[in-house]
Amino acid sequence: MNCLIGSHTKQIMKILHYNSRGQLCLEKISLVNFCKNKVTPFYVYSKAEVENNCREIYKLANGYNFFPCYALKANYNPTLLRLIRSYKFGADVVSAGELYFAKKCGFTAGQIVFAGVGKTQQEIESAIKSGIHSINIESEGELKIIDRISRRLKKQITLAIRLNPDIDPLTHPYISTGLLTNKFGIDKDQAVQIYLNLRHHPYILARGMHVHIGSQITTATPYIQTAKFLLQLRQTLQNQGVVIDFIDLGGGIGLNYKDQLDSASTRRSYIRSVLPKLLGCFKNEPVKLIVELGRAIIGSAGLLITRVLYVKETPLKKFIIVDAGMNNLIRPSLYHAYHQIIPLLKNNRPVEKVDVVGPVCETSDFLARGRTINVPRAGEFLAITGTGAYAQASSSNYNLRPTVVEYLVNGSGTKIIYKGESIEDIAAKYSWK
Ligand code: LLP
Repeated sequence: MNCLIGSHTKQIMKILHYNSRGQLCLEKISLVNFCKNKVTPFYVYSKAEVENNCREIYKLANGYNFFPCYALKANYNPTLLRLIRSYKFGADVVSAGELYFAKKCGFTAGQIVFAGVGKTQQEIESAIKSGIHSINIESEGELKIIDRISRRLKKQITLAIRLNPDIDPLTHPYISTGLLTNKFGIDKDQAVQIYLNLRHHPYILARGMHVHIGSQITTATPYIQTAKFLLQLRQTLQNQGVVIDFIDLGGGIGLNYKDQLDSASTRRSYIRSVLPKLLGCFKNEPVKLIVELGRAIIGSAGLLITRVLYVKETPLKKFIIVDAGMNNLIRPSLYHAYHQIIPLLKNNRPVEKVDVVGPVCETSDFLARGRTINVPRAGEFLAITGTGAYAQASSSNYNLRPTVVEYLVNGSGTKIIYKGESIEDIAAKYSWK
């Protein structure tokens, strides 16, 4: 752990900034130059930013018995997974597919935690057979299946119960997961009963507590409330002879979507203001602390680059029609999420209030609404920032649009890390008879 911190002494690379010619650069790549002869839209990631985020997390957790995991759902590109694994992160998976990718990218079984409210029998069986670190269970029904499979295989499995603490994470309701009205987790009283019932189980070791209260959380307050809930419950369990070895605190630490440009005054994520306060609640507690961070590791590392197709004026509005849409970035349509949109070449054009919209045949296909920006011209390029997490990973073929290329920038080098699809790739999956 310490060697990772030590290696951070070299000069910090600029990540997202404008150079003296007003060109937006990711590390040492001028994106406007990079766009020449490239098909848009595409995603581009900064390797250094992923590395900075991984190092920062270790630094903030120094002194704790800490096991950070990366939530693959944020972005499961294998090149990025290998990079994050090289920083000794574990993997938080939620499907057979994510388990497969994690193992293929070199995460050892002992580094993998499996979460999810609807695991299938096959997924549970393959997790038990693989001997993963732990399964986070979310219902009694799931427990019955684990009981049956572990007895049949005569194989032990470590469990954490995902608890529903009924705490408001102060984020968008669609990504709030720790309220009793949500489908996730098990309430405290039911959980205590399950821990007690499992005390002498020959194969199930219920040694962990798990929570994940939501995503894009920007303040420490709900985390501190959750920590108090966990500590109280751990005490209750301990009084009844149940030993808890590890607490998986979930993920959810948010990004500063308003400003992703390098600046002394802003941080790209809330990791610095949240993680130390959360971990601080467990000072001197003899438990292993797991986190499952997605966005805070990868979100700030990615951009979605798009080209302006048309500038269209209607009697009421000005629309900037671009070639990226809700099929590439669904967050604005789904959560009214804000993503900063900036030109690849700075300009002094007048600012106006516009809607930046995609080509998809839905009114909800917008990337920004009522946004005040320098009005771009057709053919110019824009960067949509903070799109490392939950962008490509939740992209789709809607309107029969192929998924698009992903590039990785490393200093002044670039490489393709996902080649995208062609229309023929999609066609090949169908029966044409
Ligand atoms: N652990 C569990 C159990 C989760 O459900 C999630 C995210 C994470 C960890 C990682 O959360 P993160 O650190 O990345 O916030 N599509 C939405 C986000 C959905 C998050 C789902 N679960 C968005 O674009 O904001």
